[in-house]
Amino acid sequence: MAPTIQWTPDGVVMIDQTRLPREESYVTCRTYLEVADAIKTMVIRGAPAIGVAAAMGMALGALHADPERLDEEIETIGATLAATRPTAVNLFWAIDRMKRLYASLRGQTAGQIRAALVREAQQVYLEDIAINEAIGRHGAALVPDGKTVLTHCNAGALATAGYGTALGVIRAAIAAGKKIDVFADETRPFLQGARLTVWELMQDGIPTKLITDNMAGHFLRSGRIGCVVVGADRIARNGDVANKVGTYSVAVLAKENGVPFYVAAPISTLDLTLDTGDQIPIEQRPASEVTEVFGVRVAPENTQVENPAFDVTPARYVTGIITERGVARAPFEESLPALATLKG
Ligand code: MRU
Repeated sequence: MAPTIQWTPDGVVMIDQTRLPREESYVTCRTYLEVADAIKTMVIRGAPAIGVAAAMGMALGALHADPERLDEEIETIGATLAATRPTAVNLFWAIDRMKRLYASLRGQTAGQIRAALVREAQQVYLEDIAINEAIGRHGAALVPDGKTVLTHCNAGALATAGYGTALGVIRAAIAAGKKIDVFADETRPFLQGARLTVWELMQDGIPTKLITDNMAGHFLRSGRIGCVVVGADRIARNGDVANKVGTYSVAVLAKENGVPFYVAAPISTLDLTLDTGDQIPIEQRPASEVTEVFGVRVAPENTQVENPAFDVTPARYVTGIITERGVARAPFEESLPALATLKG
């Protein structure tokens, strides 16, 4: 599989996730405004991938900015990228990281500053892959052998710089010799499970079955599911997890049926400034995503719609949060800050 996102001499190249799996095509963003648009329109999506795109967008913006007005322009570029999607904290984490580096470069020439920002964006990309591989190593041991893993949305290579968080755990478990297969929830309304998770797992030859979201309870009750592994967009200090809408229902059904429910996410997805998940901003998306399926209306005209893109799973349903520094377990208000301050 070609990389999800890449820094190239022509600009930031991304696989167009709105066209998968029908078509494997690539978009080249030549300005930071094009990167912002790609995030907003979900050409690129998934919390860590959005973070990498934002870092590259900051570098791209700096390359084309007026060197006489760099301070102002960096502020504008950061604010524009930050206004794309509200829930995944990795977006804000990456923008802050680039702005902090910029602030530390005061006194250097515009050329030196630009070069340093480009290097940093590439570093964010490389680190993300290494982080996902580490998440995979920590998570692989938790996956029961000989069973099915259920996942929701796409927390794979397509949602990150590569390898994936939840799908990284699955890849690592298989690499460790475990005989597992995957059930992918289709993930209405945007169908990240059907379109993206199934596509990327099939590319790797990982045995995968697509189920509709409302089948999850049936299979969780059947005894076939060894564990659930999902990604996250933002995790509060108490362990409450914001992830793709529908995750909460899966978590409750997992607990009801005694199936472990794991969240795989990098430390950059933690938002320790928030006490609970109630404070996480939830993106509201267009009604047409619910009333239509690929442009075909499935509801009466003028149907009133609610379309929250994410929900919050209370920490009591979360068996463990798998990070690159190890697995956090309850009480999360102790284990998460401890992992966040751990070196490495
Ligand atoms: O709206 P999306 O597709 O950006 O939502 C993605 C998810 O909810 C993922 O599960 C989450 O970002 C983790 S990706 C490793």
